[in-house]
Amino acid sequence: MSAPLDGWQAVCRTDELLPGEHAVCFDGDTAILVCNVDGELYALEDKCTHQDFELSAAPLQGAEIECVLHGARFDVRTGQALCAPAYAPVPKFPVRVEDGVIYTRDDR
Ligand code: FES
Repeated sequence: MSAPLDGWQAVCRTDELLPGEHAVCFDGDTAILVCNVDGELYALEDKCTHQDFELSAAPLQGAEIECVLHGARFDVRTGQALCAPAYAPVPKFPVRVEDGVIYTRDDR
């Protein structure tokens, strides 16, 4: 991998995250889920807003992910909760690609 970007966390190479796949990295204590939806990259906290379960335990279904614990669904492009029992959106994070490497960070 190339030199890291200040304040950004390297996730993986772009060719290691194909459409329909997701990967997890950490920025401090924050687990970040990076999703490839039809070639577009989106990052959001890897934490369901219902009871904090890891969203990454589930596969990506198009642009949605369904929490395996109680079935809440989220749009990974926006973080929006799509059905009960979750109502609050999942925080979104920025994504950058430099020299073929995907980076994200907790910018809160
Ligand atoms: S913890 Fe995700 S739906 Fe309950």
